[in-house]
Amino acid sequence: MRTTDLVAEVAAAWVDGSVEARPEDRSDLRSLLRRPDAEPPDYDRVHASFAAEFLLVNFHKCVRALTEARPEPAATVVDLGCGSGAASAAALAYLAEAGLEEVRVHLLDRSERQLQHAESLVREVAATLGKERRFDVEVVPALGDWPTERPAQWRGPAMVLASHVLTENRAHAWDFLNRAVALAGPRGSVTVVERADDGVWPALDKLVGESVLVRRFGQGDVRAATADGEDRTWATRWLTFEPGPHAGCEEAVRGYLTAWRKRDPDLLEKVFTEGARYRDKPFHPPIEGLTGIQEYWRSHVASQRAVSVRVDSIAYRPDAAHLEWTAFLDEGGDDVKRVYGFMVIEVDASGKIRELRECYRSQREARDAAV
Ligand SMILES: C[S@@+](CC[C@H](N)C(=O)[O-])C[C@H]1O[C@@H](n2cnc3c(N)ncnc32)[C@H](O)[C@@H]1O
Repeated sequence: MRTTDLVAEVAAAWVDGSVEARPEDRSDLRSLLRRPDAEPPDYDRVHASFAAEFLLVNFHKCVRALTEARPEPAATVVDLGCGSGAASAAALAYLAEAGLEEVRVHLLDRSERQLQHAESLVREVAATLGKERRFDVEVVPALGDWPTERPAQWRGPAMVLASHVLTENRAHAWDFLNRAVALAGPRGSVTVVERADDGVWPALDKLVGESVLVRRFGQGDVRAATADGEDRTWATRWLTFEPGPHAGCEEAVRGYLTAWRKRDPDLLEKVFTEGARYRDKPFHPPIEGLTGIQEYWRSHVASQRAVSVRVDSIAYRPDAAHLEWTAFLDEGGDDVKRVYGFMVIEVDASGKIRELRECYRSQREARDAAV
């Protein structure tokens, strides 16, 4: 039997044996959670309905997200807003499949009852997986809000999970995501899972475009039966961020994009080496040196009325970054210019760009209120 099927069986048996919820309470909770403007429920009150209604479904959504996004397996799991433990159960299946033998799971929730459920479920999942092969799981529950800093005793990279929890913290979603990235640490990962139509996504999409972290995203219909046995598909989206080990390269890309967004040639001093080369047109001679690049920017970039730059994808080497980008340039006319390009940024040991190579195409587009 596949590991995820085995864990799904454990979770289904756990729901049967551990929670009792009246159908009308479950239906009320379902309606409440579908309302975009609703305040989050009191999870200590609705814990049984939540587990009965959503544990299995959210488990399958997290399995799909992890299977497709493939975050680097890590021996530390941090389940932010763990609820009844759906994401941790999925992570244990993922890590057991990856061959890990020792895992520490940090369960974090501000609802005591939810936390108790998660701890009980995760222990059962761990016990079952431990019968098949060596798989030691330490469970560390913590009641309260998310930590603002990575606790000193956490060692190594962490797989941070935020499943159906940013939606409840929408006003601070970016702040929360940044904190999650800090908790993950270099070579860790943060995986966000939410309903595909959740109102948090437009805000996240914009913020992801501004970020320089490696990201993977996806979406799909996940088939999962409710605890009543009703077979349904659940439109689900996920996003995985990976803070890389090459902080100098990340900083160089961040600095370059900030200078571009602010259209400020003076900021380039902190970004490029004195002798940097800037090749923005294949088959043309490069622009040589920081002064030359600043001169070029004064005539071509500083004159633009507004620039928005989105990072579509990015990858790092120890000495370079490769990115795919889209920019919208507003030169004040009736239309805007959309530019789509690829860029390689080579970075020296001090974290400054020594060479930039890029290639792009552009087209004029009608002004869009969203741009
Ligand atoms: C919708 S449930 C999701 C539970 C679980 N992650 C899942 O996917 O099934 C949200 C959970 O996050 C918890 N939560 C929301 N915001 C939180 C915060 N800022 N700090 C700690 N827990 C939080 C709630 O108490 C609740 O148990």
